[in-house]
Amino acid sequence: MSTKQKHILVTGGAGFIGSHTVVELIEAGYTPVIIDDFRNSERFIPERLEKLTNQKIIAVDAACQDVEVLDSLFSKYNFEGVIHFAADKAVGESVSDPLKYYDNNLSSLISILRMMDKYNTKSLVFSSSCTVYGNPKSTTGKSVVTEDSIHLNPDSPYGNTKLIGEQILQDWIASSSRSNVALLRYFNPIGAHASGEIGELPQGIPNNLLPYITQTAVGIREKLTVFGNDYDTEDGTCIRDYIHVCDLADAHVSAIKWLDLQTNPGIEIFNIGTGKGTSVLEMVQAFEKVIGKPLSWEYGPKRSGDIPEIYANPIKAKEMLQWESKFSIFQAIEDAWRWENNRPKND
Ligand code: UD1
Repeated sequence: MSTKQKHILVTGGAGFIGSHTVVELIEAGYTPVIIDDFRNSERFIPERLEKLTNQKIIAVDAACQDVEVLDSLFSKYNFEGVIHFAADKAVGESVSDPLKYYDNNLSSLISILRMMDKYNTKSLVFSSSCTVYGNPKSTTGKSVVTEDSIHLNPDSPYGNTKLIGEQILQDWIASSSRSNVALLRYFNPIGAHASGEIGELPQGIPNNLLPYITQTAVGIREKLTVFGNDYDTEDGTCIRDYIHVCDLADAHVSAIKWLDLQTNPGIEIFNIGTGKGTSVLEMVQAFEKVIGKPLSWEYGPKRSGDIPEIYANPIKAKEMLQWESKFSIFQAIEDAWRWENNRPKND
């Protein structure tokens, strides 16, 4: 006897977090439908996903603003829910080309919401970021944030698009929308799938710490610069909440299941982090321990816009979504290292 397929639209499903979420969705019995225009992801990802999951992957090459394509997908699949990842995310580029970010990140969200209204789609998971908290210590005196922590203006147009996206969703839910939203604020995703088939593919010089570390260790980069050593933290380097991308992917499945159980329209915000802060120096040391070799690194000046310390209080996600992180930074580093040694090199 065949059971009804539960289709979930995954925008940006070929990207770093999207591709790992597709794997988790399939493992949980859902049928993901990817829409991705591959502007910031690789065309071989759907094939890799097929190999990894042993299942046919539906992947449509289109932008989220393509209303005709969206309309045909919504009418064909009658989605149970949408997970909206598709967005530009390079902080530096957003400073030099803000209109690209406001245009792409906000218009894609609005197109999705219009379709959800038209087709009465029940559930939406939205990718937000801990960047919306700004520097929590300057407002609350604490580095750990709960979902109701005071917001500062994020430091970049990219961060602003996340905050404005959140506000659009609040207004949309307050209107006559009949949908339900889980708004996930990600902390710092790292790692890769344990199979070594999928992982992060930074274009050009990585901005993020762990890809920079792994690329230095394989010799693509000469030396890691640790940005700043006189922050007001124990070892003087910045502290972040690094979360394994598979844990993060799993949080999306928990959110979809939770949304499915909700009977009234609404919106809930969840921090998706481990609850543990790790300094840049601790990351370097953990990496050296995992690979058993010293890394070439030096201290350099602070990077503008970096905040000293932030990590999640993830208790709400645990209580309401029954989700919590499982992997340590050591496991994430091991997986990122395997991926770095296997991944197709595009630079
Ligand atoms: C960055 C983005 C954030 C985004 C997040 C997702 C900025 C300002 N923020 O966060 O909006 O949601 O990525 O991945 O870019 N570091 C070094 N040397 C390096 C690279 C990084 O010392 O070569 C340090 C940074 O100073 C920081 C830590 O490593 O303290 C983490 O940096 P990164 O991976 O770029 O993440 P965030 O800046 O926290």
